[in-house]
Amino acid sequence: MSATFTLNLAYLVGALAFVIGLRRLSSPDTARRGNLLAGFGMGLAILATLVYPTEGAPNNFGWILGGMAVGGILGWLFATRVQMTAMPQLVSIFNGFGGACAVALATVELSHFYTGEASMGGGQLLVVLFTLLIGAVAFTGSLLAYLKLDGKVNDRNVTLPGHSMINIVFLVVILGLLGWVFWQGASGGMLWAMILLVVTLIYGFSFVAPIGGADMPVVISLLNAFTGLSAATAGLIYNNQIMLVGGILVGASGTILTVLMCRAMNRSLLNVIIGGFGGGGAAAKGADGEQVAKEVTSTDAAIQLKYSDSVVVVPGYGLAVAQAQKVCKELDDLLSEEGVEVKYAIHPVAGRMPGHMNVLLAEADVPYPKLIDLDDANGLFSSTDVVIVVGANDVVNPAALDEPASPIYGMPVLEVWEAKNIIVLKRSMSPGYAGIQNQLFFHPKTRMLFGDAKASIQALVQGVKAG
Ligand code: TAP
Repeated sequence: MSATFTLNLAYLVGALAFVIGLRRLSSPDTARRGNLLAGFGMGLAILATLVYPTEGAPNNFGWILGGMAVGGILGWLFATRVQMTAMPQLVSIFNGFGGACAVALATVELSHFYTGEASMGGGQLLVVLFTLLIGAVAFTGSLLAYLKLDGKVNDRNVTLPGHSMINIVFLVVILGLLGWVFWQGASGGMLWAMILLVVTLIYGFSFVAPIGGADMPVVISLLNAFTGLSAATAGLIYNNQIMLVGGILVGASGTILTVLMCRAMNRSLLNVIIGGFGGGGAAAKGADGEQVAKEVTSTDAAIQLKYSDSVVVVPGYGLAVAQAQKVCKELDDLLSEEGVEVKYAIHPVAGRMPGHMNVLLAEADVPYPKLIDLDDANGLFSSTDVVIVVGANDVVNPAALDEPASPIYGMPVLEVWEAKNIIVLKRSMSPGYAGIQNQLFFHPKTRMLFGDAKASIQALVQGVKAG
């Protein structure tokens, strides 16, 4: 077998492993194996590339293995030590590093080009510059997304008045510089390419700065798509099929996710990008201190649950913070034994990353058919005896439907107030991620059970057992 044949065969098997692995990620039952399969495909592709270097150039194993060791150890340390609640931030920063990789590759190729070590046609130069730009936006954009998700940066502190206009100016300058660098070709020199890079890195920050609050899921998946795209164009630079396939798969999945997230927020992508997000100030009805939320004791709530026919659990970010998924399943089992029908209503942007609630509930072995999506859940609430809102806030905020001034106005929400009774489990009256008050807590059907969600559900479990 020739080296080229073996390499292509390894890439083909790797690409198939990516596609089948990705397909298997769509169900919790097969997701773990899907992830392993895709990882195997990547391992095979890396091994084949190391053994059979393309274009006959010998591999510099010292640098490659050194880089892989440093990256691998750091990645492993980060991933094993990260708190489950900080997982979205980790995903965001890893995504940013993918963009940084593309920037590094493009910079190396440009330096070869300008020093005359390598020649490039116009098309090739354009691909390299495109990789540089997309990678740069993905890098600094993801860094800012990480800081925002981690609560280290507040939306309002990084947004300037007329920020959309500033971003449009940035785009025009970047396009102008791109045209200039391209037009100059090899005679242009590295300096202009680096000026283009620096301006684009700043634009990455500026692009994400005004997007915040409940719109974050859209920008996170968009940045993910950018990183995939930059990996795909890097594959074009090196004429490496597996990089191209991997990049296209990430880019395409990121794009599909972006469309789904936009749909979940009921906003167009353009509106998310140029619209900015109020993050709080407006429409803080209920913050006037005059309304009083009614409380319930865990004993009374447990009795109410035990004597219901149907209960819908609405999990949110607080479920992840409290790590209450297992005790939630315990309550589900107890109620089910009592003949209560228990379901889980999943909002597409609940938590802090796509599929966050699905992952948590799968970890607790909640059967997948018990999970219902937003539309089905909204059709079910009117015949539900009790809804338990576990650490969810923005995704059950009626302001999305009836307060046009609210920053989340227009976003589809779980209309839990249609149920006969609502019990909200949270620690205080603090707002959720979007920073806005929630009238649901003052609704006549709502009762608040204050405390950490895990402790509150444990108390409910005791109450159901004793009742
Ligand atoms: P949030 O609106 O963030 O509300 C979470 C609530 O959980 C808070 O009000 C908090 O209230 C409560 N909580 C926190 N820790 C708790 C604990 N230990 N025990 C009990 N309650 C606890 O959550 P959501 O309803 O899931 O909405 C998600 C939000 O995040 C949306 O605005 C969404 O757009 C945004 N977002 C989503 C994503 C993705 S991809 N899903 C990414 C970025 C941003 P207390 O502090 O009073 O307890």
